[in-house]
Amino acid sequence: MDCNVILQEIYRELSQTSQNGHVATYIPELAKVSPEKYGIHLSSIQGERFFVGDSKEKFSIQSIAKVFALTLAFHFEKEKLWKRVGVEPSGSAFNSLVQLEYENGKPRNPLINSGAIVVADILLNHLGDPANDFIEFIRTISGHPQIDYNPKVYQSEKQTGFKNYAQANLMKSFGNIHNEIEKVMDFYFLMCSVEMSCCELADAFLLYANHGKLVQSNEEFITTSQCKRINAIMQTCGFYDEAGDFSFRVGLPGKSGVGGGIAAVYPGHYSVAVWSPVLNAKGNSGRGIKTLELLTTKTGSSIF
Ligand code: DON
Repeated sequence: MDCNVILQEIYRELSQTSQNGHVATYIPELAKVSPEKYGIHLSSIQGERFFVGDSKEKFSIQSIAKVFALTLAFHFEKEKLWKRVGVEPSGSAFNSLVQLEYENGKPRNPLINSGAIVVADILLNHLGDPANDFIEFIRTISGHPQIDYNPKVYQSEKQTGFKNYAQANLMKSFGNIHNEIEKVMDFYFLMCSVEMSCCELADAFLLYANHGKLVQSNEEFITTSQCKRINAIMQTCGFYDEAGDFSFRVGLPGKSGVGGGIAAVYPGHYSVAVWSPVLNAKGNSGRGIKTLELLTTKTGSSIF
């Protein structure tokens, strides 16, 4: 089966299909992105690379950065991490406040906003230079040293992220945020402002396809067991209240972002990233999900 042919087929089919929904507007900078953008990149752990469309264009990875932040926090804290953040799907929107109050300020999982805010708070206590160390981590695991933050996206979200501030304040009132709110939120917004292309994102996610080892050097970045757990969290929590549907349709661990990106892995085989900025009602890329559904169906590659 030729993966190039399959990606071309999917790209052609879905480029012609009309999209329901809108690009994200609640972060004003993201509203400027063309809804027509569409790229796919698949990297295999053997070093093969397949791509189509806008796969080399950078976009705002937003919540996909939560996987990188979780990886670092898990590396530093080990099992202690789960005292501050849970591992259950929320079944709620990514920025929902309701559950947090019922559950005494402990977020359901690290991939919803509140969970990633706790992770940002934790990382501030481990990283000497958080902004630099975080981006360097992504550069290292992806093998792309030019990856960076987008300062406009960072500022844009910092000025409008009222609901995220509300979640941080609520958690602080329960004692689950240890640093100053402003410092934590600055780092959280910075993490979300990382810009990457599908190619760079797929390469970074090879770590999760390769059981925690860098494909370039076979160096172990996280243990096999930690990698298993991160993939399990992506599987159950990576798409918020659409995690079940993503599992049902695609059958791979993955993570979405409101910039319209999705990264997913087929452990032991490949990682794939897709970018299409029009979001469905749950805040995930509709065409992105359809792309991965067709990919796993046509290639028969699913963990189930
Ligand atoms: O905090 C936020 O709302 C954004 N920086 C990230 C949200 C996000 O990407 C949700 N993903 N589907």
